[in-house]
Formats: sequence, structure tokens, C-alpha cells
Amino acid sequence: MIDKNAPIGVFDSGVGGLTVAREIMRQIPNERIVYFGDTARVPYGSKSKETVTRFSRQIVRFLQTQKVKAIVIACNTASAYALEEIEAELDIPIIGVIKPGAKVAAQTTLNGKIGVIATEGTIGSHIYSRYIKEINPKAEVIGKACPLFVPLVEEGLWQDPVTDEIAKRYLTELIDIGIDTLILGCTHYPLIRSTVGKTMGEGVTLVNPAYETARELKELLTEKEMLNEEEAKLGDNRYCFYVSDGAEKFKRFANSIIKYGILSARIINIEEY
Ligand code: DGL
Repeated sequence: MIDKNAPIGVFDSGVGGLTVAREIMRQIPNERIVYFGDTARVPYGSKSKETVTRFSRQIVRFLQTQKVKAIVIACNTASAYALEEIEAELDIPIIGVIKPGAKVAAQTTLNGKIGVIATEGTIGSHIYSRYIKEINPKAEVIGKACPLFVPLVEEGLWQDPVTDEIAKRYLTELIDIGIDTLILGCTHYPLIRSTVGKTMGEGVTLVNPAYETARELKELLTEKEMLNEEEAKLGDNRYCFYVSDGAEKFKRFANSIIKYGILSARIINIEEY
């Protein structure tokens, strides 16, 4: 029998997936979460498919020791590289962040020109394009890797002239092509949403896969009758955070974007899983 009070496992290469965890907290507040951030091995965006898949398998094994009832891969690169393989091996539901964002973008565009900004790995996998074309075969999908956005976000330069300048350099070609929809295809990017929005201008709709993923998770749990309806059972262990290194830095970052005080982040040796 399914334990509805069991937590949702959420993982990312580091802090970016907190934007997804935050949306899950907002949209399905009765759910418990066990979050793992692979802070010792970040970034994933420049690593190979084999490496990212191996890391993702280890994290899934760790999350299973926490008796999670479902898993969210809150990292675009890991979703692009590892979701399909891991999904076939698991007996609990697992979703990534790419399909939900691709679906909304395919339905949103009016002129058929969709931009995707993400890590080199996600762009190189062409996975957004694949999913978008399954829904909207005529769509033109233009990918742009924006590797400097991740360190800028991690340095807290969310609204800063340096970030404005880098955004202009990365995004000008997408503006010139005339896209009307832009997917924030990296979990860090929702934190610089206002900079990206300002640079692209009002005519471009931004799609935030973090929001769409939480919505899809809620739908999935509802459909499978796995939603936790009983708030009282959540207890002190409502949200648990684990990392592979740098627990204090992680905690500071997490507390700057999530309003529920994050009391602790525990370090585990992920290589053991
Ligand atoms: N979280 C990653 C993603 O969404 C970005 C950071 C990294 O390269 O690991 O693709």
C-alpha cells in the first residue's frame, strides 16, 4: 500500500533545484520533501551523459533509502540525460523538468518560434526540441547555451549591471530571430527571470519549467491517489535537505529563496550509493 505521508524526493546538481522545491512547497503544501543537492560535483551542465546518468542513479538510490513515494529530477541537464533510462528501472513515479516546460511552450507560442536557454548539456541533447515537436511539429526551436548565468546566480547577482550585460550578449540573437516564447531551461534561471524578461521585452512569454513541473507533479499524485491530504502528520521532518559538500553555503542560499526556515542541510557521501 502507498504511504501518502511519505516524502517526495527532489534532486539537482546543487542549489538550482530549490526553485522547483519552492514551487512544490507552494502548490502542494501538504507534501514532505527530501532534497538532495550534489554540491560536491556541480556543475552537471558541462559533463557527459554517462557521468550525469551515473550521478543521477546514485542519488535516486539514496532517495530510495529515504522511502520517497515519487521523485522529481529538478535539474534540466539530469532530466535531459538520465530521466528516460532511470524511469525504466524504477517502480515509483519519477518526472523531470523538461516535458512540463516543453508542453506549455508548445501550447503558448503564436508565431511558432520558441527559444530555449539552458546549459551546454541540455542544449546539446536537443531534448526540448524533440518534446516540443511531438506536440507542435511546425514549431521552430532555437537553443542557446548560457553557461555564465549559473555562476552569476550563485554569486547572488540576480539584479546587477553585469548580469544585464551578459543577458544582452546571450539573448540578442534570440530577439533578432523573433521568438515569442522563451523557456528558462535551467533551474537557476527563474532567479534572474526579471533580467531575462527585461532584455527580451514584453512581446516574449517566459516559461518557467519549475512552476509547470510542480503543477504536473500535483496532477500525477492526484491521478495516482498519492497526494498527502493530512497536514497534521507532516511533523518536524517536513523538509529535509542533504548535500554532498558545503552545507553552510547551501543553507545560506536556500534560506535566501525559500521562506520556510531551513534549519539544517546534512552532508552525505553520495559515492557510497
Ligand atoms: N541545475 C542545472 C540545470 O538545470 C544547472 C547547473 C549545472 O550545470 O549543474 O541544468
